[in-house]
Amino acid sequence: MVRKTIIFIILIGNAFLAFSQDYLNPRLPVEVRVNDLYSRMTLEEKVGQMTQYVGLKYMQGLTSSDQMDDIENHDKKEFYPGLGVNDVIVKIKKGEIGSFLLVKGVDEANYLQNIALQSRLKIPLLIAEDAIHGHARYEGATVFPTPIGMASTFDTLLVKKIASITANEMRQTGYHWTFSPNVDVARDARWGRLGETFGEDPFLVGEMGRAMVKGYQNNELEASVLACGKHFVAGSQPLRGLNFSPMDVSERALNEIWLPPFKSIINEGVATIMAAHHDLNGVPCHANEYLLKTRLREKLGFNGFVVSDWMDVIRLHSLHKIASSQEDANRLAVNAGIDINMHGPGFFETLVAQVEEGKIPEKRIEQAVKSILRHKFRLGLFEQVLVNPSTVNLRSDTAKAIALEAAQKSMVLLKNKNKVLPLENLKQMRIFLTGPNANNQTVLGDWSARQKDDQVITIFDAFKSEQPTLDYYACGDHSNISDKDIEETRLRASESDITFLVLGDNPTRSTAVVRTSGENSDGANIDLFGRQDELIQAAYDAGKPVVVIIISGKPRAIKKAKELASAIIYAWEPGEFGGQALADIVFGRYNPSGKLPVTFPLSSGQLPAFYNHRPAAYFREYNDEPTGFLYEFGSGMHYTTVTYSNLVVDRELTNEQPVSVKFNVLNSGNLPVNETILVYVSDDYASVTTPVKSLAAFYKVELLPNETKPVEIKIPYKAFSLWNQNMERVVEKGSFTILVDDMRAVTELK
Ligand code: GLC
Repeated sequence: MVRKTIIFIILIGNAFLAFSQDYLNPRLPVEVRVNDLYSRMTLEEKVGQMTQYVGLKYMQGLTSSDQMDDIENHDKKEFYPGLGVNDVIVKIKKGEIGSFLLVKGVDEANYLQNIALQSRLKIPLLIAEDAIHGHARYEGATVFPTPIGMASTFDTLLVKKIASITANEMRQTGYHWTFSPNVDVARDARWGRLGETFGEDPFLVGEMGRAMVKGYQNNELEASVLACGKHFVAGSQPLRGLNFSPMDVSERALNEIWLPPFKSIINEGVATIMAAHHDLNGVPCHANEYLLKTRLREKLGFNGFVVSDWMDVIRLHSLHKIASSQEDANRLAVNAGIDINMHGPGFFETLVAQVEEGKIPEKRIEQAVKSILRHKFRLGLFEQVLVNPSTVNLRSDTAKAIALEAAQKSMVLLKNKNKVLPLENLKQMRIFLTGPNANNQTVLGDWSARQKDDQVITIFDAFKSEQPTLDYYACGDHSNISDKDIEETRLRASESDITFLVLGDNPTRSTAVVRTSGENSDGANIDLFGRQDELIQAAYDAGKPVVVIIISGKPRAIKKAKELASAIIYAWEPGEFGGQALADIVFGRYNPSGKLPVTFPLSSGQLPAFYNHRPAAYFREYNDEPTGFLYEFGSGMHYTTVTYSNLVVDRELTNEQPVSVKFNVLNSGNLPVNETILVYVSDDYASVTTPVKSLAAFYKVELLPNETKPVEIKIPYKAFSLWNQNMERVVEKGSFTILVDDMRAVTELK
């Protein structure tokens, strides 16, 4: 009896305690909980919410397979000089850290949260990750195509599903915040990170960004994560193509190119934004109050919180030299609008004093901290923050099916001379396969952990299972293609009926070999890296058909391939099912459907090259090489032919109404086809120079063999607008040409 009484008293006590602290009461409105919790916090605890560290295993150079049980014994103090695991644990208990990135596994996520639950106010931690194409940096999670491949599908519904599966796998493993979508507009193929973007068209980038925000944030509570739009702003056409380089951007370019995708994701409710590394018009983005307050919050209406990029607050001092000390850098960044510092010591330590000295207004801290708390409440972290490792179920059948579908739909057939593909009468055919991307995890792309070999289907794996007698030669990697490799390729190609060369880039971070693309791996030359073109020549000289497959996150100037190959498939970074998807295409099980979301320049010297250029861009020509594009935005073939006909558009634009565009599409082949319809608009005459055409709408349609479908697409009125000389967004009177495939029609605003 006594025991029961004691238990009863404890239960009543806990219930009273829970409801006596309003912020712990889940039945109260979030704002009440935020305000109550904020009112209880010390200044140290407030600033602690703005402070982010890397995970303990990462600090100690450990991997996700290392256990947490003896983490306190790993106490190297190099990563954060003078700071070891136990020092960080103390900071968490004191409420001086609010979030972590580079956490290695569900065990560490739970470990960190259990420490935070020992703090005075028990505020849960936000665990963040670059989960940009699946929870791909987590071993055993589903790895989808990288964003450039997702964009090639032009399938926003599919991309939303990818983001939703990503969020689910993140929350299962105790992660809550993804540094995605990257809504940079790709403008320079020398930049190593192009594969993280959705291409060169601001409208497409915005639509893909919106789809990802929906997929990340709009699931049931325990399967949603915070999205993060990045990098704010205009860092994807860095001077000379080098990441971090300065950008000078006109107000027009901001309005026409760089800001529209951010407006799209902000309108979709993106929870967080990440500032960009570089200085914009002479002011580093991380200290740019005009950018982070006036443009981002006041004009674009963003109401979440802003996270710095990696070490970019201290770089105001160490790189940009606009701050004389780290303390000065912290003040400039926070006062400009940075809410969380990524990462480490030196931020918290100076901020408290600067607030007390009035150098940083308390209101600024309040805005930042309440926004962070608001999102922690909205994620339900105060109710349930620990996850059960035994129930983690990654790579569900649905996830794998979506990953295969996305890989199939992302690949772009650029050439198919004499219909060399798809391969038929396989049994009699002697296939030769080689190339630096043929049998490794480069198919996963950047921002991926090394996954178990049995999870990743390489091109070799898939082709071998199609034809066990396949002749495969393992050549050197991208930097080590030898004379022997070239000779062996020539010889074996001559002994085969067809050669497959799998070429491209190495973006993977888990290998010791030279990375040729990816973050901070920019290339001055956009030809294929190393001696890969010599492999093409050698295979071609053997006199048999050559099929070139490119695994890369960026456009390469593949002139040699275009000249000599019988077929070219740009497979981008197709993810864990890349090999399977490619085999499905090559052996005729899937009719290739991807279209390029980015223009391929003819050479490095012709950068930047994009389809939506102004009329005078190609008025003159070079004297030393052909002028123009290798492949234009929107290029992509099927095995079958899709024919467009009977274009009819509304003759007039009327008071803000959308314009109806009607036509028929016919699949005149013997395979089903997934067609991406691209509708462009061109302003025939305007008060400012406008792009020769701009993507105004895109639409997916499935067509059975010999099937014709009527299509109607509504182009929103704003697609006809421009920024006039006074920087007002208007639709001017006059005629507009609407372009669908080879068809043209005119509409007019009278
Ligand atoms: C990097 C990248 C950013 C990424 C962050 C965390 O510097 O610029 O995109 O989210 O660090 O990994």
